[in-house]
Amino acid sequence: MSSKDCVKVAVRVRPFNKRERDAGSRCIISMTSNNISIQDPRNQPNSRTFTFDYAYWSHSGFTRNKDGLFVPEETGGRYADQANVFQGLGQGILDNALQGYNATLLAYGQTGSGKSYSMVGYGPNKGLIPTLCERLFQFFRSTQDSRQCQVFFSMLEIYNEQVIDLLSKASRSSGGLRVREDQQRGFYVEGLRRVPCDNAVQVEQLMEQGTRTRTTVATHMNANSSRSHMLIIVQLKQIFSKECITKQSNINLVDLAGSERQRSSGSEADRLKEGTAINLSLTTLGNVISALADMALGKKVVHIPYRDSILTKLLQSALGGNSRTVMIATLSPADICYEESLSTLRYAERAKRIQNRAVVNESPTERLVKELKAENAKLLLRLSRLGQEGRRSDDETKELRRLLTHNELQIRAIQTLWEQHLQEALKDWETQYATITQERRMMQMHPYIMNVNEDAQLSGVVKLFIQDGDWDIGLADNSPRALSIRGLGIQDKHAVFSNHQRKVSITPVSGSKVIVNGMSVSKITELQHLDRLVLGSNSTYLFIGFPSERSVEDWSRYDYDYFQSELAAAEGIHIQSLCDDQGQKPNQTDPSLLAVFYDYIKLMPMVTEANQMSKELKKGVEFKLEIKNLAMSDSKGHDLEKEIAVRVTSVESKQVWMWSKAKFVNRKFLMEEVYQQEVVGGEGADRAPLPRDRDPFWDPLEPLHLGSAHLWLQSLAFRIPLEEQVEVVGPEGTEEAILQAQLVPCSPMGLPLGEDDILIDPSELLGKRLDFQLVLDQCCGLRWVKEARNRGVQIGFQMFDCPQPLYSPAVWHNVNPLLDHRVQFTALRTSQELLNYLQSNALVLELWGLQEGCSELVSFMDGVKMTQEEESIIIDKISASENLAVETGGSHLSSSLRALHQDLEQLRNANAALRKENSALRDQLHSAKNGVENNRGRHDRRGSCDAEFAKALKVFYHGMTSVRGQLQRLRRHKPSEEADLLGLRLFVDEHAYLLKDFAEHLEQCVTTLKQDVAAIVRRKREKSGIWS
Ligand SMILES: Nc1ncnc2c1ncn2[C@@H]1O[C@H](COP(=O)(O)OP(=O)(O)OP(=O)(O)O)[C@@H](O)[C@H]1O
Ligand SMILES: [Mg+2]
Repeated sequence: MSSKDCVKVAVRVRPFNKRERDAGSRCIISMTSNNISIQDPRNQPNSRTFTFDYAYWSHSGFTRNKDGLFVPEETGGRYADQANVFQGLGQGILDNALQGYNATLLAYGQTGSGKSYSMVGYGPNKGLIPTLCERLFQFFRSTQDSRQCQVFFSMLEIYNEQVIDLLSKASRSSGGLRVREDQQRGFYVEGLRRVPCDNAVQVEQLMEQGTRTRTTVATHMNANSSRSHMLIIVQLKQIFSKECITKQSNINLVDLAGSERQRSSGSEADRLKEGTAINLSLTTLGNVISALADMALGKKVVHIPYRDSILTKLLQSALGGNSRTVMIATLSPADICYEESLSTLRYAERAKRIQNRAVVNESPTERLVKELKAENAKLLLRLSRLGQEGRRSDDETKELRRLLTHNELQIRAIQTLWEQHLQEALKDWETQYATITQERRMMQMHPYIMNVNEDAQLSGVVKLFIQDGDWDIGLADNSPRALSIRGLGIQDKHAVFSNHQRKVSITPVSGSKVIVNGMSVSKITELQHLDRLVLGSNSTYLFIGFPSERSVEDWSRYDYDYFQSELAAAEGIHIQSLCDDQGQKPNQTDPSLLAVFYDYIKLMPMVTEANQMSKELKKGVEFKLEIKNLAMSDSKGHDLEKEIAVRVTSVESKQVWMWSKAKFVNRKFLMEEVYQQEVVGGEGADRAPLPRDRDPFWDPLEPLHLGSAHLWLQSLAFRIPLEEQVEVVGPEGTEEAILQAQLVPCSPMGLPLGEDDILIDPSELLGKRLDFQLVLDQCCGLRWVKEARNRGVQIGFQMFDCPQPLYSPAVWHNVNPLLDHRVQFTALRTSQELLNYLQSNALVLELWGLQEGCSELVSFMDGVKMTQEEESIIIDKISASENLAVETGGSHLSSSLRALHQDLEQLRNANAALRKENSALRDQLHSAKNGVENNRGRHDRRGSCDAEFAKALKVFYHGMTSVRGQLQRLRRHKPSEEADLLGLRLFVDEHAYLLKDFAEHLEQCVTTLKQDVAAIVRRKREKSGIWS
């Protein structure tokens, strides 16, 4: 009988990790019973609530007891420890399996969110898998009279769509094991090792062995384990001899790859997208879950893509099939992980809709045994008849007896086969156990280095002991005094460890890369307990000194992050320096800034590895991380966001490409594949070189965004012309060029307006036509062209609501090229939006770098409207669409727009009436003092006063533009990282000088304005004689 039930979903939130604590992260997750809410850190009132079958709060309210267990601070506290989680999830899985149902437990969540902690556990805090196995064997022991039990344990990893058997050495080469399909069994892994087990300690040992293989595979393939899925299959067979029934069930325990991998690539257009097999399993799992969730909602689903990936093939029965399935979604509590946590919750929400149909897998005891038993019975009968009849035929009796013995043997063979397997496995296990015991003894006697992996589960798995004397370390393992390691950039003989007179030192072999505590070393260096070593590109080890030097301190703080932060700090990148750029204190750091810092730390080792692969494969390109300042592209000049990009440079031709983070991560996976095939797989020599269009190291050349300049538009609101020399600033704050540009208010025919057209009140522009020209005169001091003469540039810009960016014609081979480019823009009826825009925004002028062989940027005129004379580009289409919206009416939006419009109109009328009244009052006052004066004269005087005022304003704006420039220069003025005391003194002097200059200039501008205004007022008074 099948029972229909939904996938059960649990959510667990972990404590802050060190990095989150250091950054002063806020917890954005809250839970009440089974409801879980997540708060948007950028928009605090905005939160979303989800409801799941289980919600585990493991974030706070815990303490570590004397056995090292994390338990609730007070009894009955809300903290969910490992035992709670097992009680809620593990026990159910176990009960189901014992009843004969297939059962599956999946852990889903971003890297570092606690999947492995929940599934496997760390140290004494054992996770679901070991506890489940422990309880299973306990149960079997207590019920061994009623049933005979067989347990088989398998452990595999899916990496890059290859299945690797973690319990066998044989499958690691040649593309892994094959997945096959069988009518009865469904999909299964052919040749996967199934180890018979009869106790929990044995299972733990097997898991340790599997983890060791995982670590080796990760270094061999130069891949990261958090990108692979780990699957443990526990097969149970219960034989109830009395009832002649066998129950069989499979328990799948799946620790999935970090979920952010699913989004990191593929989301962005890359010409080599199809190669992202690395994410295929995770993406397909998402698609399968979506399809099944839709189906549960009654939508029509034609196809469920189980067959699209290895993982979904193996989990077919777990998802929508014959299995009782539980998913645990793990979350980081921190604000910087908001996006990822929200996406995990959404994923879990979909998964809980999936409906399965589980059946008890029970069958009469195997047919073969039954048949043999029946045949034996028949034989026995015949034998006894023969005896009774007394017809003794020796030959026949002999034959019958032979058959009988043969059959009995076969029955016994079947029954003892399991025991034999078990004995073999136990023997194997004892050997393993002896090796582990030996290792533990060595740890108490000698100093050693142990691996530190990005995946904390794999850290501390490899230990290399440095006994007395000299020890070579490297790829070679041909001498008894060699310590063999693998990894990118590791040489045959990489370095020598010496242990003499209780002192350990390392001497790099020339040309090999050795970093100690973040610093590159080339000479003999003495090591201290807990020193950090990086060998080659990115093989990270912690040095553990002599037992006498060790104390009870916690080594776990020297995790992978610690190593990478130390390396970043050596490059001058630390959270402090990023905060300084923003004028922020680290404890109030913008989460997006922290995210950039962590991205940098995460990408740094990947860039080092990409460089090593490029070198070994002779690709001739170099990769470099850059922190891009997004203020460059912000038309208000806000300096809030930063982003990581990777600069790729061809060593020989100096050609440059800029890759986004997502593109680089995607390419890095592909590079690993190529490297794997060509170098590790040894196919390099007899392989045709990879065609360019499939080469992840190569890309066609594209124009490069070098930097931007801001041309403030404020003067246009007053119809004042502006002529400026603006600095083009690169993403890292470097000066890329100086650009001479003008903004010229003009007549519809393009003739410049005069001073009489200057406005004092910009609102006078409202509803009127505004024409102006952008003139790009010249570029000076182009750094891009100075570096290589065969380059060119173009300027790109996008004015207000113009639908397309426009580009100036390309200029080549010149450091100071004349651009002489002029574009006219027209607003037919200036709207309030445009006016606001002009008063507070700048036109961002983007400098684009061209390289030989790359195509130039062209302005696409799709959707761009021109005036009838075809000479001017129409902007400010809002006013036009506004009319349209009001006319069409009907919708809520257009009616509120209409209301606003009416308000605006009323305000305008009120304004005009007030002005009129004002002017009438003035007239009255005037005539009272001086008698009647004709209207014309008054207008003239007002006109001349306004013109004077406008002139004064113009002078002021010009002054302010250069003051603004000075302010920007001041902001960028920073001491160099390497500055010594003298350097710092010089910096302070220079800074003080700039500040003084800035203050004087500002003072001067304001004073001039004050004087001008005072003079105008004085003249006006004198002329009108009001107060004379
Ligand atoms: N509930 C928890 N209580 C205490 N510590 C936890 C908890 N969950 C996770 N951690 C800690 O957080 C770190 C990362 O957890 P874990 O290795 O389980 O992440 P993961 O999701 O498996 O990441 P990856 O995708 O990289 O494998 C570990 O050091 C672990 O000890
Ligand atoms: Mg993990």
